[in-house]
Amino acid sequence: MSNSDNSYIDVFENVQKLIVGRKKELRLMINAVSKGLPIIIEGPVGTGKTEMAKVLAQSLERPFVRVDGDDNLTSIKLKGWYDPPLVLEKGFSRETFIPGPLTHSMENGGIFFYNEVNRAPSETINAVLTALDEKLITIPQIGEIVAKEGFISIFTYNPEDTVATNPLPKAFYDRCIWIHVSHQTFEEMKEIVFLRTGSSDNLMISISCEIVQATINHPELETSSTVRGAIHLVELYEDLETIDEQTLIERAIAVHSRKIRCKTTSSKTESEIIEEIVSKILSRYEDDRILRKKE
Ligand SMILES: Nc1ncnc2c1ncn2[C@@H]1O[C@H](COP(=O)(O)OP(=O)(O)OP(=O)(O)O)[C@@H](O)[C@H]1O
Ligand SMILES: [Mg+2]
Repeated sequence: MSNSDNSYIDVFENVQKLIVGRKKELRLMINAVSKGLPIIIEGPVGTGKTEMAKVLAQSLERPFVRVDGDDNLTSIKLKGWYDPPLVLEKGFSRETFIPGPLTHSMENGGIFFYNEVNRAPSETINAVLTALDEKLITIPQIGEIVAKEGFISIFTYNPEDTVATNPLPKAFYDRCIWIHVSHQTFEEMKEIVFLRTGSSDNLMISISCEIVQATINHPELETSSTVRGAIHLVELYEDLETIDEQTLIERAIAVHSRKIRCKTTSSKTESEIIEEIVSKILSRYEDDRILRKKE
């Protein structure tokens, strides 16, 4: 290990200031990083995958490169390419090769953070396999590039996302340490919203988190909302003195109705379900700031 154990304890403490909960997962991630093992963080939408990877990568204080998977992210874009005018002048060599983010990260002993890895074409994923275990990649005309000490990879992936995505090959999983995350508790959700919005409006934070929680347990919903929805709703309510039921319903619909999805067996629309949830939650609160809807 190039860094001392103490420095990893510092990393853990630093990460904990920016990530609510997830102690077990963060310890495992730091443990994997200290052994140079690649990590894949897997979980549903809005569960903090990108945030955990980003905060850990930044806390490690190593050169850090982030790429986001999409259809156009080819293996050439990841590994690098030759600059045509320079090649004409000097031929194929390391000097005329422009490293892509993966090669750059390997040559600098840095962190290669690949967000939403399943959104890239499969050939791109196959191209990174040797970088994960053997810590090398092959570049035409140059040959092998071996990673400098300290190089590690962190991936995120939402297995429930099936639109514009590709399944990850078994060989990829075989090389990674798997970190699974799911929705956090209600108390943790409130802390996240407080941390992200900086709002001191505890009543709105509670109501917003209760709305999300109600979508998570709702028998008529196939897809629930996420902590992002609670963050958005609190942001939309900043500086508002009163909590007017009708306005809250409208804003909650704007925030949540495309994040959730009804089961095919439900006769209601997403907006109707949100309206019901908001009214039910507000009816449980006794607070002068709440203006009830007139029947
Ligand atoms: N444990 C946490 N601590 C602090 N912030 C969090 C935590 N979990 C989620 N967040 C915040 O919630 C929001 C959603 O998190 P993030 O973008 O990391 O989710 P994700 O799992 O990557 O979602 P997606 O699958 O949509 O990419 C962000 O604003 C993030 O800062
Ligand atoms: Mg993400």
